[in-house]
Amino acid sequence: MPNPSLIIHGGAWSVPEGDVQAALAGCRRAAQTGWAILQHGGSALDAVEAAVHVLEDDPVFDAGIGSHLNLDGEVEMDAIIMDGATLRNGAVAAIQRVRHPVSVARLVMERTPHSLLVGAGAEAFARSQGVAVFSEEELIVPRERDTLRGIRAQKGLAQDTVGAAARDANGHLAAATSTGGTMGKLPGRVGDSPLIGSGAYADDLAGAASATGDGESLMKIVISKAACDLMAAGQTAQAAAEAIIQRLAQRTTGAGGLIVVDARGRVGHAFNTPRMACAWVAADGSIESSI
Ligand code: GLY
Repeated sequence: MPNPSLIIHGGAWSVPEGDVQAALAGCRRAAQTGWAILQHGGSALDAVEAAVHVLEDDPVFDAGIGSHLNLDGEVEMDAIIMDGATLRNGAVAAIQRVRHPVSVARLVMERTPHSLLVGAGAEAFARSQGVAVFSEEELIVPRERDTLRGIRAQKGLAQDTVGAAARDANGHLAAATSTGGTMGKLPGRVGDSPLIGSGAYADDLAGAASATGDGESLMKIVISKAACDLMAAGQTAQAAAEAIIQRLAQRTTGAGGLIVVDARGRVGHAFNTPRMACAWVAADGSIESSI
């Protein structure tokens, strides 16, 4: 029976020194949550959803509570989840007033014939499925209001996105990504995160990947699918992640990061931003982290 594997990220960006410990702790908590599911025989899909939930609940990260604000001062979130066993996928874009966009993405995958719902339609669908809806205020943290003021004054920091990739004991892979997008974005802007192959991809025959960084650049190289193609061609998870981040640097002006699991359960990560908070499960079952 295959050994499960799990890796998660809290975004590739210039994490300030004061946020380093909180970002590492949040990533470790998310990894522990996903790992507990895998250890008890749960699916990779359940593990990546649960891990991303933890990150969406943690205001340190740009996802769920703590999401960046658009130029109108509103939260518009994107998320995707993909099942490597079946290639089923679900996503939401520019969704508002939900706390866990990744779970709405999963509902899109499992309860509709569609792959991607956006904006008001996505929120209406979430409500129809019994998902709790919050006021705009409940998702906004004071840091983001201050940051938006900084953006308007041209001095904001770039922060980005959370995600998870896993293999379960049945050898099935899954990936999920969730984000508040870029700070001070135009209302209605959607980045790479909810786009299949860009924000995430999973195929049992290749690997699973979740991306973070400058969405407009990541989608140019369809970063997650590109990494899975390299793993399908025989590259290890780590080699594929490094090659794709090199491609990102060579072919675009943007920066970002990627976490991957290959079909053999090996994990890898790479980034060309100053930092990327990351946690994964080592061969002995311990949680490792880096930033
Ligand atoms: N990578 C997240 C975004 O650009 O929205």
